[in-house]
Amino acid sequence: MSDTAKSRAATLAHLRGVKLAKGDPVSLPLTMTTTFHLPGNPAGVSQYGRYDNPTWEAVEDMLGHLEDAPSVAFPSGMAAIAAVFFALLKAGDRILLPSDGYYTPRLLAERFLKPFDVPFDARPTKSFLDGGFSGYRLVFVETPSNPGLDICDMAGVARLAHEAGALVVADNTTMTPYGQRPLDLGADIVVAADTKAPNGHSDALFGHVACRDAGIITAIRDWRKLSGSIPGPFEAWLVHRGLETLEVRFERMCKSAELIARRLTNHRAVKSVRFPGLEDDPSHNLATTQMERFGFLIGLDLGSEAKAEAFIGACALVQPATSFGGVHSSAERRARWGDAVPPGFVRLSVGCEPVEALWQAIEASLDGIRG
Ligand SMILES: Cc1ncc(COP(=O)(O)O)c(C=O)c1O
Repeated sequence: MSDTAKSRAATLAHLRGVKLAKGDPVSLPLTMTTTFHLPGNPAGVSQYGRYDNPTWEAVEDMLGHLEDAPSVAFPSGMAAIAAVFFALLKAGDRILLPSDGYYTPRLLAERFLKPFDVPFDARPTKSFLDGGFSGYRLVFVETPSNPGLDICDMAGVARLAHEAGALVVADNTTMTPYGQRPLDLGADIVVAADTKAPNGHSDALFGHVACRDAGIITAIRDWRKLSGSIPGPFEAWLVHRGLETLEVRFERMCKSAELIARRLTNHRAVKSVRFPGLEDDPSHNLATTQMERFGFLIGLDLGSEAKAEAFIGACALVQPATSFGGVHSSAERRARWGDAVPPGFVRLSVGCEPVEALWQAIEASLDGIRG
């Protein structure tokens, strides 16, 4: 992790503390209210629960600090992505999405943007620059892609897309601001599902949009206020708490993932491993130029659906579950959702368990695979 990331992590825990008055609670109070005491002129204070909430604002302060950019909170990662689409696009705009990234943005575009005359194209992440970006209003990247863990050159995309007059949106869910900094690489907007590692405890959905352009941030805030796509205060409180430990959890998860990925490559039951930190991974060279860490997700192909399900089902320290980024390691066979990966491809999300115990459980489960 770079020195800047470390100093950001160090000050994160004190963002609230430095603003406290004598007698204020040190921990963040959960403010459950729809209304505020509001006699007379309503300007300049909290007005109504769809417009403002002090608990969201505390999370936005933290996210803004981590992203080094104003950030707007949403009730899920998809709500953040939808806010970018619906606040910034108009009829006649064309957008480009990754064909191998998280599938729901493509479904959203197909079902709800196309009928408003906003068509989309989709391209694989590993060849995302091929064909250039002429004719697009918005280019959406997800690198590493979920679940295949391919990578595209974010700075290259930003340069070419800007030359073509397009906005660049980066979904940084798989990396968090500690692992990769898309805005510093040239992206205009970051979207992320804080449902994953930022909250980290698999108990709240949440998302955010971060952007250094004041006009875009205003449009995103207006979208939230007018559409009502607002986070719940309790979820915000949980995410605030999760963010306080993100750096420690992320550090452990990335370190463990690197060790486990290396050991997986030597196991007889594993056909292939995808992890950007492995020197022979197709993503490795590019990863070293734009990622601060290699992340906590590993892709492993066990050769068949039956073998993949047997591995997941038998591993005592891996939760069979969708989603990723929790303190508990988890895994799933992504082909079960129709992702374009082999039937035996498992996405393993490495959690915070002590790594040797975790590896022993993974190894024992792999050893038990027949055939
Ligand atoms: C890369 C990525 N982006 C966005 C999302 C959407 O997040 P949420 O489920 O919080 O809407 C997900 C969810 O899995 C994801 O993997």
